[in-house]
Amino acid sequence: MSEKSEQTGDGGAANRRIFSGMQPSGEAHLGNYLGALRQWVKLQDDHECFFCVVDQHAITGDFSPDELPARILDLAVSFLAVGLDPEESTIFVQSDVPEHTELAWLLNAVTPVGNLERMTQYKDKSANMESIPAGLLNYPILQAADILLYRAGAVPVGEDQLQHLELTREIARKWNSRFGDLFPEPQAIRGGAGRILGLDGKAKMSKSLGNTVGILAEPPEIWDRVRTAVTDPQRVRRDDPGRPEVCNVFTLHKHFTDPELIPDIESQCRGGTRGGVDCKRILADSIDEHFQEARERAADLHARPGRIQEILEAGAQRARAEARETMNQVRERMGMTWRAAVGSGRSAAT
Ligand code: TRP
Repeated sequence: MSEKSEQTGDGGAANRRIFSGMQPSGEAHLGNYLGALRQWVKLQDDHECFFCVVDQHAITGDFSPDELPARILDLAVSFLAVGLDPEESTIFVQSDVPEHTELAWLLNAVTPVGNLERMTQYKDKSANMESIPAGLLNYPILQAADILLYRAGAVPVGEDQLQHLELTREIARKWNSRFGDLFPEPQAIRGGAGRILGLDGKAKMSKSLGNTVGILAEPPEIWDRVRTAVTDPQRVRRDDPGRPEVCNVFTLHKHFTDPELIPDIESQCRGGTRGGVDCKRILADSIDEHFQEARERAADLHARPGRIQEILEAGAQRARAEARETMNQVRERMGMTWRAAVGSGRSAAT
């Protein structure tokens, strides 16, 4: 692991370490899965991965201290349920590693306020606030700290986070040029599913909009949600021809349904020979089947609550060891080294 500390500059092709984080909004939903988790599971096979429940980011928006603990745990269970493997990857909760906030503070020194104010997410979220919390502005600095703390070479991110990653690269560059090369400039790994529309066919899938399904939902609940999904608005009667290319249900089929069934579904839709309800029924069954193993893993974890704690404690311990190494170097380069000056005759008073 320590040979990785040699990594500097662009991170080098050899730097296969990955960091990614997700806010603790509770059980993951289809959008989280298609946009991130599915890809994380694949990446862990040939990369050294750190996957983090970023609870300290959650306080920059509306949140309830009473609900946060369960949301953190539920997201962690979702991570494990979809197949993130604690033997292969470091899975942990951000607030268990205090170095995240320490590094974030130190990175404040090289981050221009102007750059923070230019972030789209900040502009959107702060637009209608009469009093903007500083944390909302500084959010991307904490995100940069998350990534740089592990000197990760790459970060799987959705489109909406590319700007934050670019800022992370800039912060790394600035810090390196002022204090000496330490941080790789992390590359984005794209190739998540892109923008996933919710079941309403309008807005991005999100839990708060209620336009999605939890990945651990039981089959009746999956059907309950999927049957409300909006299809091609031009298709009014059962045997009207549909347009799969504009139908969000068809897009979801492509993600979840057996690829061999897709050509039939497509032609039956076009020909108006299969009704929308039938089509959604197939989708609900596909989703049900897709996550069956995840539901089993989750049930297993719920039956052994000590196990989830054990995994997160072990993850935090591994993360902390790595974080400590980075912070030793950061503190030294930034002059938090008064002990070395004791008795050196270099005190300011002489
Ligand atoms: N801001 C990210 C999001 O909302 C979450 C996040 C926090 C993150 N820290 C990160 C993602 C570090 C990637 C790397 O999706």
